[in-house]
Amino acid sequence: MNQILEKKIISEGVKDITISSQHIARKRKAGQFIILRIDEYGERIPMTIVDSDPKAGTIRLIFQEVGKSTYSLGDLEVGDEILDLVGPLGKPTHIENFGTVVCVGGGIGVAPVYPIAAAMKEAGNEVISIIGSRDKDLLIMEQEMSEVSDRLLITTDDGSYGLHGFVTNALQNLIDEGVKIDLCVAIGPVVMMGAVSNLTKEFGIETVVSLNSIMVDGTGMCGCCRVTVGNKTQFVCVDGPEFDGHQVDFKELMMRQSAYLPQEKEAMDRYHKCKLERLAAQPGGK
Ligand SMILES: Cc1cc2nc3c(=O)[nH]c(=O)nc-3n(C[C@H](O)[C@H](O)[C@H](O)COP(=O)(O)OP(=O)(O)OC[C@H]3O[C@@H](n4cnc5c(N)ncnc54)[C@H](O)[C@@H]3O)c2cc1C
Ligand code: FES
Repeated sequence: MNQILEKKIISEGVKDITISSQHIARKRKAGQFIILRIDEYGERIPMTIVDSDPKAGTIRLIFQEVGKSTYSLGDLEVGDEILDLVGPLGKPTHIENFGTVVCVGGGIGVAPVYPIAAAMKEAGNEVISIIGSRDKDLLIMEQEMSEVSDRLLITTDDGSYGLHGFVTNALQNLIDEGVKIDLCVAIGPVVMMGAVSNLTKEFGIETVVSLNSIMVDGTGMCGCCRVTVGNKTQFVCVDGPEFDGHQVDFKELMMRQSAYLPQEKEAMDRYHKCKLERLAAQPGGK
């Protein structure tokens, strides 16, 4: 159960794993996520279901190692099992033929935007995708994004590939070209989703963002993932993860995301220390 069947490293610190999970593979829709717990001591980690194969009974996750839990997940190998896998969670993306949909993915945000771009294309939309990263080596899923997009624009912060600049620069270029955008979907760091939403608001372009708040139970009970959208409290795990980008209080979300920084640092230091001790205890280790 929940066995890792495939594992690839697709860029520095970014891993792509396929896990057996019959039930979730059959039921999941674009935009939904799972919460997993590696072992009985593990915290609960939310991850978008990037893809699934209902026949094979597998789901695919792509994640960036940023802290103790994601590094520990990255340490698992093919054949290892994940203790708990709950899902599919969250409301699926509203998919219909809107016309022209621009899908924007920044950094690891390209992974969660991919299933949405694929579903939008399948529904008959013209899909223009913009994917961006800090530099060429950190860009992920270029080939897969091009397969589900009518047009793919790439940006890098340092100009090492594609347009030199941010995803918002490419979006501004599309607007300047006169492309009529019926919907924009943006996923990535909070600051990026905020910047995209500010830009599209100016031009009256409907915008959906998928929020990556810190979560605990994933059932709407603990309140950990609460965000303010249109002056109302919403829970990302059950009311989202997608919301109207023009209504989200991004400043509050950013503050809440950094609420546990000292504890996250402490957990990471402990993880590194334990890993070094484990390596040293291995035959031939120093
Ligand atoms: C619905 C949802 C879907 C997600 N899908 C994906 C995905 O497909 N791929 C992926 O790589 N990540 C995804 N995330 C983010 C992922 O859950 C976090 O990166 C992970 O829980 C961090 O745990 P950690 O212990 O490794 O790091 P921590 O020690 O908890 O944090 C390390 C650093 O990462 C930041 N961080 C912590 N939690 C988040 C978060 N939720 N989002 C952004 N930064 C965070 C912290 O502020 C800190 O700077 C998703 C989050 C949500 C809510
Ligand atoms: S994670 Fe607990 S209410 Fe959403």
